[in-house]
Amino acid sequence: MAKPASQLHRAWWKECSVYQIWPASYKDSNDDGIGDIPGIISKLDYIKKLGIDIVWLCPSYKSPQVDMGYDISDYYSIADEYGTVADVEKLIQGCHERGMKLLMDLVVNHTSDQHEWFKKSRSSKDNEYRNWYVWKPARYDEQGNRQPPNNWVSHFQGSAWEWDEHTGEYYLHLYATEQPDLNWEHPPVRKAVHDIMRFWLDKGADGFRMDVINFVSKDQRFPDAPVKDPRTPWQWGDKYYANGPRLHEYFQDLGKILKEYDAFSVGEMPFVKDTEEVLRAVRYDRNELNMIFNFEHVDIDHGTYDKFEPGSWKLTDLKAFFERWQKFMYDNDGWNALYWENHDQPRSIDRYAQAKEEFRTQAGKMLATVLALQSGTPFVYQGQELGMRNVPREWDISEYKDIDCLNHWHRLLKHKPSDTEAQKSARQEYQKKSRDNGRTPVQWSNAPNGGFTGPDAKPWMSVNPDHVRVNAEAQVNDPNSTYNYWARVLRLRKKYLDIFVYGDYDLVDKDSQEVFAYSRQYEDQKALVLTNWTEGTLEWDSTTNGIKGVKEVLLNSYESTEGVKERFSGQTWSLRPYEAVVLLVQA
Ligand code: GLC
Ligand code: CA
Repeated sequence: MAKPASQLHRAWWKECSVYQIWPASYKDSNDDGIGDIPGIISKLDYIKKLGIDIVWLCPSYKSPQVDMGYDISDYYSIADEYGTVADVEKLIQGCHERGMKLLMDLVVNHTSDQHEWFKKSRSSKDNEYRNWYVWKPARYDEQGNRQPPNNWVSHFQGSAWEWDEHTGEYYLHLYATEQPDLNWEHPPVRKAVHDIMRFWLDKGADGFRMDVINFVSKDQRFPDAPVKDPRTPWQWGDKYYANGPRLHEYFQDLGKILKEYDAFSVGEMPFVKDTEEVLRAVRYDRNELNMIFNFEHVDIDHGTYDKFEPGSWKLTDLKAFFERWQKFMYDNDGWNALYWENHDQPRSIDRYAQAKEEFRTQAGKMLATVLALQSGTPFVYQGQELGMRNVPREWDISEYKDIDCLNHWHRLLKHKPSDTEAQKSARQEYQKKSRDNGRTPVQWSNAPNGGFTGPDAKPWMSVNPDHVRVNAEAQVNDPNSTYNYWARVLRLRKKYLDIFVYGDYDLVDKDSQEVFAYSRQYEDQKALVLTNWTEGTLEWDSTTNGIKGVKEVLLNSYESTEGVKERFSGQTWSLRPYEAVVLLVQA
């Protein structure tokens, strides 16, 4: 049963859609081959025309760029290659003039090892910054060999602890060696985080995307993690650091600042499958975060032990994931963030639709429809609106730049130098899952370098050669393009706000491995979102699936909605390859 309207909390951040920008690959304004903030400013009209309300800017602060800016050495200044604080102020102003907001990325689980805090912290055991990071003495095994304090694995391969010769202790780094974890138990660290937030909010930023924010409270016993992968000494310790003991206490403090500024917040939360625990962070009356990013649907193709091992999944798995969170958040006054892609994920047309090139556009439109008309705030990642795809299969490993992927590759070469099969398989998996897939420059035109940078410049990462066909210039004025279809979906969502933002959600034709369909209902208004996930034509029985009659065609991915209603008048409807259709139906 749909919930009475009076019980629903309305909020501006529920109604918005967000566009994510990863600055290095967006638009280069000065032909040095690296995207920059003036480049982003030059594209604000393009973003606005897509129907976006909020722009999320990935880290642009000073950084040695070991992990593309997620290793920050100064939170108060901007990396030279991207511009200046004044450029960010101009960007904020440019967004505001167009009625859009700007989010900054808040990366405070760790800093760069080049941050002043860490330099001081590692200088001596009695430095006042020692406690800002997590330092522990070594353990010794039976042979007397020095071992890290526990067996936790780093997200970027190997032990999560690094030995520091100078002071004779290990420090914790859940990510790269150059990304030491901050110690949130120490009050000055939390104060420093609050100061950073206020600084950017005072500059006019409208909120934050918070990097791995559920890792900031760790179990202070730092216990060994259970052994799941017997092939390695290093195990996932997430049980002891994901949603740790003091997380909500810390979130309450963040929430107070956010509320003061009426700011937007989305927290990145890997590993968490417990709906109740997520709810504690996002329930409306808790005043912690607005929403979080879930990981189950993007981990769907990972191997048992490792992301870069082959994994398989079924459409029903994906549907079950959405159904669970959609229903739970609706019933419990929480809220979802909806995304297929971001800078850590491959392109959705490859991962979810696995579509042949001839179906690229249809698959992209279908995925847009399924995602954005669910209950939640939709996030569009740069290039997704153009139907950009993964890197070409024939690309050499030298084209890959991501530390996650390259660390994996180098370890493989070291440990299995003559295992060509394992190397071949890893290479295939990189082309499917490496973060590089989402990081190639945005394809603005069919010019050399895709118009991302000057024709004679050398882009920091190669542009996908398919830019000659797939690019923004070809799409903005083509009514049938992926770009304009995304704009239609986002407009439709706003036009029928009650249904698509505030309505209830029910999965339809649950067990199908070919169709992803759901209904959204608000009081007596009901819509059906129906999509074909195959490259064949399907016959779909509307009656057995409980559809009582079609009032109006709201959207169709193949054609305009004019004169197509009779297609949906009988009992059985024919769906073309990857077709998406949205209908107003009898409640
Ligand atoms: C998040 C970011 C990712 C980064 C990691 C460490 O998962 O999205 O890009 O590498 O945190 O900061
Ligand atoms: Ca540049």
